Amino acid sequence: MSSTSLPLPYYNDDKKSFAYPTIHKRWPTIIEQGIDDVQQTIKDNKTEQLSTSGETIVDKLKQLLHDFKNDTTVRHFNEQEIHHNKWLHHYNTTLDSLNQVKKVTWQTGPWLYLECYLYQYINNFFISNQDSFWHSYDIFARLKTKTFHQSELGVLELCKRYQFLNQELEQGKAEKETLRLLFVEFIDISLWGNATDLSLLAGNVTLEDIKSVQGAEVRKKNEEKIIVNDLPTAWSETGLDKEEGVSRIDIVLDNSGFELFADLILSLFLLDSGLAQQVHLHCKEIPWFVSDTMAKDFTDLVGQLKDEHFFPNIHKQDADAIDLVSSKIESYHKSNKIIINHHPFWTLDYNFWSIPQFTDLYHDLSQSQLIIFKGDLNYRKLTGDLQWPKTTPFKTAIQQLATSGLPILSLRTCKADVVVGLPEGVNEKLIREYEEAGNDVGEFWSSSGKWAVISFNK
Ligand code: F6P
Ligand code: MG
Repeated sequence: MSSTSLPLPYYNDDKKSFAYPTIHKRWPTIIEQGIDDVQQTIKDNKTEQLSTSGETIVDKLKQLLHDFKNDTTVRHFNEQEIHHNKWLHHYNTTLDSLNQVKKVTWQTGPWLYLECYLYQYINNFFISNQDSFWHSYDIFARLKTKTFHQSELGVLELCKRYQFLNQELEQGKAEKETLRLLFVEFIDISLWGNATDLSLLAGNVTLEDIKSVQGAEVRKKNEEKIIVNDLPTAWSETGLDKEEGVSRIDIVLDNSGFELFADLILSLFLLDSGLAQQVHLHCKEIPWFVSDTMAKDFTDLVGQLKDEHFFPNIHKQDADAIDLVSSKIESYHKSNKIIINHHPFWTLDYNFWSIPQFTDLYHDLSQSQLIIFKGDLNYRKLTGDLQWPKTTPFKTAIQQLATSGLPILSLRTCKADVVVGLPEGVNEKLIREYEEAGNDVGEFWSSSGKWAVISFNK
């Protein structure tokens, strides 16, 4: 590879890429579940008008499924669609350049581009519907709520941990070394919170698997599964190690439900401890990759924590811990210490090397001393989802972003092919290990969600 040429992206028809099982197993299931969801809403509402408008969405989802299964050519967004969402023209520009290399079809095109395109394509069916009922409809809301509901034990455990620490922190100023250790713990909580990704439920990961990564004991066991760990550098190079901490930390959120909850616990700790004065959280503007956090999911989650019936098995004596967390979140939100942001850029197909070109977003992020990117998709977009050799330095893989002045910390459980920053030999060792554990494709260790990376670049 010369210094100017970049590796190829991962393609949907590459059987050695996790793209292949994703598109063949998950995408059809996600679309089918979407059809069921809309039909359920039509049934629940029992009005003629909603039934007619909803059926047009169902028909479009069925057509999409048909197009995907027949591997049709992927089309440009038309004028009417761009009228409803002007940001879609960016997708057309990318499609033009991709088509010059090879005609893009559903089953053969680049994975990252098409996966983003898919969610925008589905969103179009809703925002362009004749009935405004559907315009802000979240086709994944039922699934998001159901899964958070099942995170009861993990939520309670974290609330109690937070309650205990909050009392300790309020009693006096903790020493810097104590704060550093707690910072590592809360980052760890936030990192493994990323193992909860509802799009995985459409594959072979069960709710039990997800619950099993939500507790402290499992996190401890998973320490050695963090195969890149730049956290010590992030601590010392961003000013967090200084007495006064930093003024602002940003979190580019990933999934709602338990992961958002874990990110909020991290935010509370950062603010309580004085490590940061403000935390800015960045949400998606449309239903995205099934479980990603939209601004309304933040409000919903606080409401669910406050609703005494939401977690049915929680004893009265434990309810205090949950109340403390929800009231702390609310009060920090009211006093503008937790700020909820959203920007259309996060739901474009663009990788994050182009953040500096979106000047409003770039200027906003430039105010931050640390920008935490949560999750797998954000990592794919940081690295362009290209076939980098696994030993490529993170700094190289994030290209222009490395010199943009933005301090980047990625917390990611690995759920796709791209991984960089590994020491020599680690990839080969993990391929062998994964095969020996009975898996057909050893390379899929990096997509299994069982390993994680913490990568930093200032
Ligand atoms: O559908 C599979 C998948 O696309 C991953 O490979 C992808 O990056 C992930 O879903 C979303 O994960 P996360 O919620 O951690 O970004
Ligand atoms: Mg996600």
